[in-house]
Amino acid sequence: MVRVLQISDTHLSPDKSHFEPNWAPLARWIADQKPDLVIHTGDVTVDAADQEADAAYCARQLASLGVPIVTVPGNHDVGEVGHPHQPVNEERLARFRRHFGDDRWLRDVAGWRLIGLNSMIIGGGPGDAEQSEWLEAAMADAAGRRIAWFMHRPLFIETPDEADTGYWSVKPGPRRALLDLLQRYRVEIVASGHLHRWHEMRLNGTHYIWGPAAGFLVGEKLAPPMGGAARLGAVVYDIDGETIDVSIRPVPGLTDYWIDDVVHEVYPPREAKA
Ligand SMILES: [Fe+2]
Ligand SMILES: [Fe+2]
Repeated sequence: MVRVLQISDTHLSPDKSHFEPNWAPLARWIADQKPDLVIHTGDVTVDAADQEADAAYCARQLASLGVPIVTVPGNHDVGEVGHPHQPVNEERLARFRRHFGDDRWLRDVAGWRLIGLNSMIIGGGPGDAEQSEWLEAAMADAAGRRIAWFMHRPLFIETPDEADTGYWSVKPGPRRALLDLLQRYRVEIVASGHLHRWHEMRLNGTHYIWGPAAGFLVGEKLAPPMGGAARLGAVVYDIDGETIDVSIRPVPGLTDYWIDDVVHEVYPPREAKA
C-alpha cells in the first residue's frame, strides 16, 4: 500500500506566530502516518509573497518533517493574478521555487500520475500558457496511469458553470478550458486547498476534495456561505492496487483558530495610496 497525505493552508511565519501551535501536532500526525509522499496544497506561509523570511522559515519546517514533500503555491505564497498589491510575478515565483521547488510537478505513484498545478498563475499570470501545454502533455503521456490534480484554488465552488466567484475559485474562462481537459483525460481526483473547509463532492466521474486547512478556520465575517464544514484536518490517500481510499481526517491536537479574530494583525488592510 502507498500512502499519500495532503496538508494545506498552514500559514506559518517566524514573525506572525498566531497559528504556529498547530504545526507540532500536524508534524507529529504526519510522522505517525508514515507517508510515502506529502503534498502541501498551498498557503504554506503567512506572506511569502512579500517576506523572504516567511519562505525560508516554512521551507525549513517542511524539510524538518524528513519525508518526501511537494508543494503547490497559494496566493499568500506567490500572490495572484490581478491582485492590486501582490500580483503574481517572476520575482515572487522565483522566491517560491528557490525555497519550495517547482511550482508545478508530477509524481508517478502506484499506478497514478499525481499532477501539481500552480493555480495562482491561471488566467494570465507568467507561465500560464506554458503550464497549460505542460499539463496536457503530462496527461497525454500518462501511459494508462490514473490522474489526479492538486492545486491551491478550486476550479469552482458549487457548480462547474457558475459565474465568477472572485477570490474563491478559478475564473470561468480558464475554468472551462481546464474542465474540458479534465473530461478528455478522465481526471479522477481534483484536490484543492484555499477555502479552509472540509468538503468533497463527486461530479461526472471526478472526485473533488477540498483539503481542510491545518492553520486556521475562516468565519462568516470573511467568507460567503459555501459547502462543507469549517473544520481543520488533512487528507489521506491510500492506494492499494486498483483501489484508492480517500478520507478527510481530523488531526489530533489542532486548535480551532479563527482568522476573523486576528485578521487585523495577520493580514492588516493596506492603506490606499493616492
Ligand atoms: Fe489559506
Ligand atoms: Fe489561499
